[in-house]
Amino acid sequence: MQHFKTQLKNESATDALGRCLARVLVPGLVIYLHGDLGAGKTALTRAIIHAAGYVGHVKSPTYTLAEPYELELDGQALTLMHFDLYRMSSPDEFLEAGFRDVFNHSTICIVEWPEHGAEVLPAPDLALFLSVAGTGRLAELQALSDKGCACLTQLNFLPNL
Ligand SMILES: Nc1ncnc2c1ncn2[C@@H]1O[C@H](COP(=O)(O)OP(=O)(O)O)[C@@H](O)[C@H]1O
Ligand SMILES: [Mg+2]
Repeated sequence: MQHFKTQLKNESATDALGRCLARVLVPGLVIYLHGDLGAGKTALTRAIIHAAGYVGHVKSPTYTLAEPYELELDGQALTLMHFDLYRMSSPDEFLEAGFRDVFNHSTICIVEWPEHGAEVLPAPDLALFLSVAGTGRLAELQALSDKGCACLTQLNFLPNL
């Protein structure tokens, strides 16, 4: 499947989507999260990270640009890197921090404000578009690689949304 749309009528629905996505994560997956401030990008990322077994606080990496989380996926330890490029001042900042190397075959990368890193950011497997819809949110998921397509296919059955 390449494209998927769902209403998230409240924050519990965002959490449920996060749980669904956590189940289909694979090493090296790159997810872009598009949407205005307050659309729910951090809320969804937090839900994914917690559903993937991380117990501590998941803060918004607004000033650090990136925050790593050590997870275990199918018994395999890996890092999930949560980026927020909203305040990235230049492509050099990204490159000098060594962020290019984080996009490798094992690390999962979730990127808020990917538009701000357009010149240096590796391509995504999945793009999610979040927008405000009434009191809730609309989520559109798009697969942009075979790997992303395989993930979306497994998302076919979204419970409780
Ligand atoms: N499906 C939803 N319906 C209504 N509110 C939501 C939903 N999902 C998340 N929220 C709320 O919207 C806000 C989103 O904030 P945040 O995740 O920081 O946005 P962003 O990272 O996109 O700027 C939070 O206050 C969160 O509780
Ligand atoms: Mg955010």
